[in-house]
Amino acid sequence: MSETSTRVTDELFRYIAEHTTREDAFLADLKRAAAAEGIPSIWIAPEQASFMQILLRLAGARQVVEVGTLAGYSAISMARALPADGRVRTIEFDPKHAAFAEQWVARSDVAGRVEVHRGAGLDVLPAFAADSADAAFLDADKVNYPTYLEHCLRIVRSGGLIMADNALAFGQLLDPSYTDREVPAMRAFNDLMAKTTALQSVIVPLGDGLWVGVKR
Ligand code: DHB
Ligand code: MG
Repeated sequence: MSETSTRVTDELFRYIAEHTTREDAFLADLKRAAAAEGIPSIWIAPEQASFMQILLRLAGARQVVEVGTLAGYSAISMARALPADGRVRTIEFDPKHAAFAEQWVARSDVAGRVEVHRGAGLDVLPAFAADSADAAFLDADKVNYPTYLEHCLRIVRSGGLIMADNALAFGQLLDPSYTDREVPAMRAFNDLMAKTTALQSVIVPLGDGLWVGVKR
């Protein structure tokens, strides 16, 4: 591929996934139940979840903010990487998704570590105090990622992490025929991240592409 990178073929990628921590029965059940209730099956990948847990542990994270709960898969997964008094504040706009996530959080092993905040990220984030989080994860409507980023640059402390899902735009990043609103939004967000000097950032090609930025 290049002098410095090995091309990750489908076979190699399967190998990587198979050699990575697997999701447990609880999260597999959550996915099945969510799909049965008509919640879109757009969870983060298990190897991506594991990588995010490693980053949160390394950062010594206690407080995490998430925009876009969906069914609660990533909130529960991230909460498991926090100490017992840690919190994931996760924001969900869709009342049905928020209710589902709250039910599954309540019966999970991290019930006390996840708070579901109902509402739009644009309305909820301004209420979160500056420097009140060690990490943030953006996984909601892509058009508003730039505004979510601006809020998170205030909410996350220096040395903290800002992560964002779907850097590879559902696999359609480089295909100019895809003009669905969310694909151009991710192209624009990637350009914005590339020039956001307040963060040292990299796109990690797990799942649909994970932005990882450390706030300088
Ligand atoms: C899709 C996937 C995502 O991870 C997301 O956050 C939104 C949409 C999708 O595949 O459509
Ligand atoms: Mg996503």
